[in-house]
Amino acid sequence: MGTTDRISRYLTAHDLAENLARDVRQGLRKRPKVLPPKYFYDARGSAMFEEITRLAEYYPTRAEEAILTNWATEIAELAEGEMLVELGSGSSTKTRLLLDAMRTTGRLRWYVPVDVSDTALQGAMEALGADYPDLQMHGVVADFEQHLEHLPQGSHRMIAFLGGTIGNLEPAQRAAFLAAVRAGLNDSDRLLLGTDLVKDPDRLVAAYDDAAGVTANFNRNVLYVINRALRADFVPSAFEHVAVWDAKHEWIEMRLRSTSAQTVRIRDLDLEVVFEAGEEMRTEVSAKFRQEGVEKELAAAGFAVESWWTDPGNDFAVSLAVPV
Ligand code: SAH
Ligand code: AVI
Repeated sequence: MGTTDRISRYLTAHDLAENLARDVRQGLRKRPKVLPPKYFYDARGSAMFEEITRLAEYYPTRAEEAILTNWATEIAELAEGEMLVELGSGSSTKTRLLLDAMRTTGRLRWYVPVDVSDTALQGAMEALGADYPDLQMHGVVADFEQHLEHLPQGSHRMIAFLGGTIGNLEPAQRAAFLAAVRAGLNDSDRLLLGTDLVKDPDRLVAAYDDAAGVTANFNRNVLYVINRALRADFVPSAFEHVAVWDAKHEWIEMRLRSTSAQTVRIRDLDLEVVFEAGEEMRTEVSAKFRQEGVEKELAAAGFAVESWWTDPGNDFAVSLAVPV
């Protein structure tokens, strides 16, 4: 059986284009204009994100990796997982630390990566298939905000949501998402959550505005995605990358700033969008957390934090949560 035989698709390219059309229409009507971050991740955007994870300024991946390196054995022993379901799995690189530890317990049978990016999912499964021949894998192309009910049923499942991707959801979205995750779990399941922590704003801004301009290109990638999927004529170079720390919300905001007054035509939406010179459009929030906040949000969704681990620099946290 080839890798593609083991992938379920609840989000086809057609669905994605329809969702994009709806979100672009709604988001460009708002003031300030907004685009949701999940559309960064076409094949090019997913590859760019991998490049970001290797940047000197982008500490979250290394910090979370350090936590998993130190604590994966304890996580595996506490969770007693037979199935690892990973939401927003991307390249599944750090996942290997969990898979190795969970395999050692002798319980792990299944790995279920879930991602909106078909190419990232296929790439991850091919790479893992070669190194974990005994592991049964079932990839799921889905939107974790829409399709959680399609995830495999069972018991002793560990749902991992790593990388700090939860911070890319706004508070109300996070509450709805965590409640939906909780609703699908039973007593023997666990949630493993990675959260980036509040820290010096200069380091935060540098992580989202790197010297080499990789994050700037990642940010502009959403315009290429819209151009291709909706036959739009955004000129990506006419938008500057902006990353700012919002101290009130404790999140980094990525924006695209129009360098001049310009009108963009989106043919499939039959829409003309006017940008003023200097106008900023929000493309991502990346919330940063404190322990009390994570515990509170998890409690509101029906979870209790069983364990909380941080890296030596206290930059990032991973928590293991139990349904209550
Ligand atoms: N977990 C990996 C990847 C993080 S990048 C890591 O820690 O390095 C965020 C990933 O989430 C991308 O692979 C992206 O395609 C996926 N993603 C973003 N929004 C999503 C959504 N709504 N549903 C499913 N996957 C999503
Ligand atoms: C996937 N997510 C956790 C990343 C983040 O840090 O918010 C996406 C990203 N955006 C810019 N750089 C990385």
